[in-house]
Amino acid sequence: MKILSLLLLFLSFNSFGEDYQWITIDRTGLNAFQEHSLESVEAKSSAMSDIAIVNLSEDKSFDMHEVMHHDLNRCAGYIRHKTYEEAVQYVKEAKEFSKLAENGIFADYKIDQQKIVNKLISRVEENVIRKTITKLSSYNNRYYKAETGVESSKWIHGLWKKLVEGRNDAMVKLVNHKNWPQQSIILQIKGSEKPNEIVVIGGHADSIAGFFGGAGSRAPGADDNASGIATISEIIRLIAKSGYKPKRTIMFMGYAAEEVGLLGSKDIAKQFKSTNKDVVGVLQLDMTNFQGSNLDIVMMTDYTNKNQNEFVGKLIDEYLPNLSWGYDRCGYGCSDHASWHNAGYPASMPFESKKGDMNRRIHTKNDTLENMGGTADHASKFAKLGLAFLVEMDR
Ligand code: BES
Ligand code: ZN
Repeated sequence: MKILSLLLLFLSFNSFGEDYQWITIDRTGLNAFQEHSLESVEAKSSAMSDIAIVNLSEDKSFDMHEVMHHDLNRCAGYIRHKTYEEAVQYVKEAKEFSKLAENGIFADYKIDQQKIVNKLISRVEENVIRKTITKLSSYNNRYYKAETGVESSKWIHGLWKKLVEGRNDAMVKLVNHKNWPQQSIILQIKGSEKPNEIVVIGGHADSIAGFFGGAGSRAPGADDNASGIATISEIIRLIAKSGYKPKRTIMFMGYAAEEVGLLGSKDIAKQFKSTNKDVVGVLQLDMTNFQGSNLDIVMMTDYTNKNQNEFVGKLIDEYLPNLSWGYDRCGYGCSDHASWHNAGYPASMPFESKKGDMNRRIHTKNDTLENMGGTADHASKFAKLGLAFLVEMDR
């Protein structure tokens, strides 16, 4: 037993490295950990009453993951930072900006583009989405520090480049991050009337296996999140092919290093904020292909914008009237929408199921297409919703 836990300790230390020792975590998460830990974990400071900053030294990290997983049904559930100062700054800014991000009105949420939207959504092809999921999950993993993590992001870059070939209003780039090798991918289609107003659709490109699964572990991540990237790719294909010329700038993003604490999206959202970019709406697609609930689409209410969420619900009623949808909560900043939210931007996260009915195979070697029924039928619904979102946000 002792040897086993030592081994696990070694592996967990190894996979995350010495960087990013500081985490920000909500009270529920911290309490659960403190209750179980033999050592008392001290929250060093707390600018926000419900957020704590903790130094996750390597001997605590295994316990932390255990508790998060077994008590709270989270996979990690915290955001990592390099230094204490960075964590403090993050909490301070998150507090200031998240109120606006939650309740502000950032766009004119009208629905009147039926002709364009209906045509686009009729062209969504399940088999195209399926093929992209298959390709992405064929990498041993897409881990942020692994060779295959670097390669798979380059593959996405290549695919997106091909999809917008011949359009001189489009540009695709790989974004470097300072502290790890995997790059994020950004595709931009420049707006013809309001190029400074930006609509973002994104999802994470990386995958991970287990809590101590590092660069060598098998992590197909077919649902988490090849499904989201494949859904986004299908949206790009149809927008690009139709010759649709957006008035606002559209950006499609594949974020690096989400699975280890929202690192890639945090970098990008921070950069957008510090350069005063006017992002009027963000849609996060993370896990779109496992139908675990009786509802088709579940809107996450935390770390998202209320008004935009209502708008997305209305888009489903208008364009996908045969689908059922509802609301649920992640309970913590569970994906990249939280990075945007904490930077003051309005985000929504339409999810594949209720939280409690989630795909239990994520973060294991069994997160495969076969284990989602072998088709991309569920993801196709999200591609249609994404198309409706883009066109109706474009005014
Ligand atoms: N796709 C998941 C988030 C998720 C899981 C949402 C289940 C809803 C239900 C994401 O890739 C992930 O694993 N997030 C981490 C948090 C992150 C801050 C490391 C998690 O859920 O623990
Ligand atoms: Zn995940």
